[in-house]
Amino acid sequence: MTKAESFVYEEMDFVTAQPYAQWKRAREECPVIRSDGRLFGVGESLYQVTRHDDAESVLRDAETFSSSINLEHMKRFMGELILGMDGPEHRSYRSLVAPAFRSSQLEKWEDNVIRPSIQMYIDEIATRGKAELVRDVTMRYPVRVICAIVGVPIEDSDQFQEWAQQITQGPIFPEAGLAASKAMSDYLAPLIAQRRITPTGDMISDLVHAEIDGEQLTDERIYGFLKFLLPAGAETTFRALGNALTALLLHPEAMQRVANDRSLVPDLIEEVLRWETSITQVSRIATSDTEIDGCLIPAGSGVAVLVASANHDADHFDDAEDFNLDRASRRHIAFGTGPHMCLGMHLARMEMSVGLNAILDGLPNLRLDPDAPPPVIEGLAFRGPVSLHVLFEPATGRA
Ligand code: HEM
Repeated sequence: MTKAESFVYEEMDFVTAQPYAQWKRAREECPVIRSDGRLFGVGESLYQVTRHDDAESVLRDAETFSSSINLEHMKRFMGELILGMDGPEHRSYRSLVAPAFRSSQLEKWEDNVIRPSIQMYIDEIATRGKAELVRDVTMRYPVRVICAIVGVPIEDSDQFQEWAQQITQGPIFPEAGLAASKAMSDYLAPLIAQRRITPTGDMISDLVHAEIDGEQLTDERIYGFLKFLLPAGAETTFRALGNALTALLLHPEAMQRVANDRSLVPDLIEEVLRWETSITQVSRIATSDTEIDGCLIPAGSGVAVLVASANHDADHFDDAEDFNLDRASRRHIAFGTGPHMCLGMHLARMEMSVGLNAILDGLPNLRLDPDAPPPVIEGLAFRGPVSLHVLFEPATGRA
């Protein structure tokens, strides 16, 4: 029996898992874990990569470790998605949407959409003195922003949040995922048809008029972009913001420092992305027999790259399990690396920064509600707090 096979892997619940202790044990005892399961039903067998350097090597070697596995397990829910493409096809599609996410382009969204969106949700609760921030603010805010960027009416953003969640969890809960995917296509079809006739300068208009190798994109490909971009922009960032607020609420000294000195917000964001990232793993499939850290990986195996585990690797981060606002190293790979590195990372950072500053300004003396359960960051593939019960000084002036 190989080392990878001998590691006793404890199965964990998708929603409530606390996997970091098991990943730590794996990094120390058996950095590439083999389990009998297939990755969402795809691949011959599954290998999980837990160390930072190995994770980086896999993600940078797109020839040996193909992203096509993402197409296989997500196509039913998202259609033809960029995350499942390789090589020149991936580069062409990525270059279509990449300009919209450059940091220089994002400034216009900051004033027009990002700031007003978070402010609207804060104003709704500011006079109350107490709130549940996941339900009232964090879950609603990033989806509104990505709806505006894509060109979907923002008054429907709560509906998109629900669809985004169901589509993302499609491989685990297929019935709800398929229903949400169909509902989103039905909603988008007339919008796409309209933009074909009258472009309005948003991303949908760009996509319907874009050409790759002289050919316009099929509806299936346009749906694929939108059904991936909306969840990618919504599901990830709302949890990341929840994780940042959890870090501050559970570490009152850090809360005090950040509230008094906002130049610490970028350090806070990077440390939260390292300590508790919202997407813990990304998927690949081995295209040929290969090896990772001495472990043989047969062609056709699913490879789960545990970026969250890599971000706790003791070779790169001291006291890696602890949240530390003063940590010097920023070499986390929460946004991945290599050709599929997150296109939305500048947007995510901007939304987190604007969101945290607005929350600290609008909800002064933010603290945990002692009469409600404390926040717990949980989950296997996606991690975030289910609820954030807080107290703050009510804004009497605005009542
Ligand atoms: C804190 C928030 C976020 C985290 C932790 C995150 C994480 C990631 C990771 C790890 C990948 C790499 C996937 C892989 O290698 O297979 C990725 C890809 C991607 N992300 Fe994000 N993301 C976040 C926010 C966003 C936002 C706001 C958007 C905007 C729409 C976005 C759009 C994308 C896209 C389009 C890709 C695919 C890029 C490609 O396949 O070339 N992400 N993200």
